Amino acid sequence: MIKLENVDFSYQPQAGGIVPALSGVNLEIKPGEFVVIVGHNGSGKSTLAKHLNVLNKPTSGEVWVNEMNTKAEANLWPIRSYVGMVFQNPDNQIVSTVVEDDVAFGPENLGVDPAKIQKYVDESLEIMHLTDIRDSAPHMLSGGQKQRVAIAGVLAMRCQIIVLDEPTALLDPDSRREVLESLHRINREEKLTVVLITHYMEEAIGADRIVVMDGGKVVLQGTPREVFAQVDKIRALSLDVPMVTQIAADLYARGYDVPPDCLSEEEVVDAICRSL
Ligand SMILES: Nc1ncnc2c1ncn2[C@@H]1O[C@H](COP(=O)(O)OP(=O)(O)OP(=O)(O)O)[C@@H](O)[C@H]1O
Ligand SMILES: [Mg+2]
Repeated sequence: MIKLENVDFSYQPQAGGIVPALSGVNLEIKPGEFVVIVGHNGSGKSTLAKHLNVLNKPTSGEVWVNEMNTKAEANLWPIRSYVGMVFQNPDNQIVSTVVEDDVAFGPENLGVDPAKIQKYVDESLEIMHLTDIRDSAPHMLSGGQKQRVAIAGVLAMRCQIIVLDEPTALLDPDSRREVLESLHRINREEKLTVVLITHYMEEAIGADRIVVMDGGKVVLQGTPREVFAQVDKIRALSLDVPMVTQIAADLYARGYDVPPDCLSEEEVVDAICRSL
């Protein structure tokens, strides 16, 4: 569905110079996957995300989206209607004074048949549990609700892949949970492919796969259990593992019979009880 082959990318700021941001990135994302991308500041996560809907094109190498090469001009709109992006700041994504109109903006912009737009908007509002507030003013909503409106906008465009660049970074914990739950729901029930960039390791626990970036490269990937079991490597990359995994790994290091790759509180509690 998505394939990056040997992708290098450098920024060329107007002030001069060249800033390398991606180097030799190879990555495949399969239909229906829930992939989380982590990495410390400046590791290239946003630059990579922008390659997925042609906001960036590789300096060298290839990016394929549904077998369309992002370099071909003719593929720009087909790719943008296939891959939707949601960014960090919900306020920057609001374009209308009414929730429903905001959700309709994406498909209108893509030139979707007006007869279909209402249907797509209704369905998207329903999926994102926003039907009750369809007539509200977006600026009156909570951060979590605003991000759900942004996600509904992507659903209304009938995108198959949704790429979110730190959508929860500015949200309170309740809103973060609410957004994450909706992402898992659309992945499970609507079969959407989700690519989520986050600094919160807890948000990576439920992923099918975690991709870890450092210095513009993919340095580690695997299931959450595989990745978080490598506590020392993760810490060496200036990242944390989820709190439960950290506790399990610390207990294991002190000789307790607790698997160091626990991912849930229940697992850690069970293991501690057994070991006592
Ligand atoms: N518009 C730009 N012009 C020049 N350099 C840039 C630009 N955007 C990003 N960079 C540089 O490219 C590299 C990768 O940045 P990128 O924003 O992709 O990292 P990131 O992993 O998303 O970081 P963060 O966690 O802070 O969002 C960094 O060295 C960054 O300074
Ligand atoms: Mg970023």
